[in-house]
Amino acid sequence: MVRGSPLFLVLLGVGFFFGTYNLLTTIIHNKSLGKLAADGSDRTLEQNSIDPVIQMPRKVRIAENPKLPFHVALTATDAPYSKWQCRIMYYWYKKVKDLPGSEMGGFTRVLHSGKPDNLMDEIPTFVVDPLPAGLDRGYIVLNRPWAFVQWLEKATIEEEYILMAEPDHIFVNPLPNLANGGYPAAFPFFYIKPAENENNIRKFYPEEKGPVTNIDPIGNSPVIIKKTLLEKIAPTWMNVSLRMKDDPETDKTFGWVLEMYAYAVASALHGVQHILRKDFMLQPPWDLDVGQKFIIHYTYGCDYSLKGELTYGKIGEWRFDKRSYLRGPPPRNLSLPPKGVPESVVTLVKMVNEATANIPEWDTE
Ligand SMILES: *[C@@H]1O[C@H](CO)[C@@H](O)[C@H](O)[C@H]1NC(C)=O
Ligand SMILES: *[C@@H]1O[C@H](CO)[C@@H](O)[C@H](O)[C@H]1NC(C)=O
Ligand SMILES: *[C@@H]1O[C@H](CO)[C@@H](O)[C@H](O)[C@H]1NC(C)=O
Repeated sequence: MVRGSPLFLVLLGVGFFFGTYNLLTTIIHNKSLGKLAADGSDRTLEQNSIDPVIQMPRKVRIAENPKLPFHVALTATDAPYSKWQCRIMYYWYKKVKDLPGSEMGGFTRVLHSGKPDNLMDEIPTFVVDPLPAGLDRGYIVLNRPWAFVQWLEKATIEEEYILMAEPDHIFVNPLPNLANGGYPAAFPFFYIKPAENENNIRKFYPEEKGPVTNIDPIGNSPVIIKKTLLEKIAPTWMNVSLRMKDDPETDKTFGWVLEMYAYAVASALHGVQHILRKDFMLQPPWDLDVGQKFIIHYTYGCDYSLKGELTYGKIGEWRFDKRSYLRGPPPRNLSLPPKGVPESVVTLVKMVNEATANIPEWDTE
């Protein structure tokens, strides 16, 4: 028997304590993450919960944690339609990046057109190749996974985490790192329904991997994820998207959201589950208030009568729809919506106007 020195025994005791403590907090954490994913009420949970081991509110511990910056990666093309959205996106990134609460790090437009364009000096850009001709079959977003594969392989990225973003995102509040170690954060889309598409999903997610409910109702964006995880998922995501596109039934069923399903399946294949954050973004005109949400996603047209009534699907007397500007940027100083239109839509138009007013040579694009 070795007789330990008193110091050694003390260290051993302390080590044991911390070991137990870490294990306990991991288990507790695992549990609360399970709850988060289930009902999306993470914010309340996080703020109200008391760490049972050290009896300190979680938010205090979070506040004391060092920042975990994430890199903002925006996949884009050199089409005029993509460019004007990227310029607005980057303008708002710069405005909110250094506000309190932000953990936003560097920014890269990952340009998958294979050649530089005229925004190289305005927006930090990394040029990658498009898919070989014909492979995307007109479904241009199939280029996204391939763009990420190339960028992750070739670029030097300082941050440990990455936000996958899209041109029609506007940062409306400073964005913290919503991911938690091995758990990336994602926005749950109501129209991604793995359980209702079991037949198609099973072709890519074999039974031995588990139930299809393992697949999160998400796409690749917005997602904040550890770089090391994305490095594993991106090649699988590319492979699954191409195979889904190759399967006529899956292609027909998933249509324009095929590449979203492909990301959801690819991450599940790697055993990665996402924290689902409904407050990650808001989508006018359906979400009425900005509140504490982080990103405005302006993918839906906003059509209203002059009385402020939503006329979705019918061209409104007042409208803002990004698709009205397929060939070039919207003019500066768009008219504000009539009275009665929700705050989310008003904020969106004001933010577009502020960006276009301040971006030099806006109309030349
Ligand atoms: C936490 O959850 C992960 C994934 O569900 C699991 O692999 C891990 O063993 C769990 N950790 C603990 C300490 O329960
Ligand atoms: C995807 O991966 C499978 C198995 O790893 C491989 O056989 C197949 O060729 C890949 N498909 C594509 C389109 O890359
Ligand atoms: C923007 O347009 C409004 C009318 O819609 C006008 O009153 C205002 O002066 C314009 N502002 C700028 C900066 O051009």
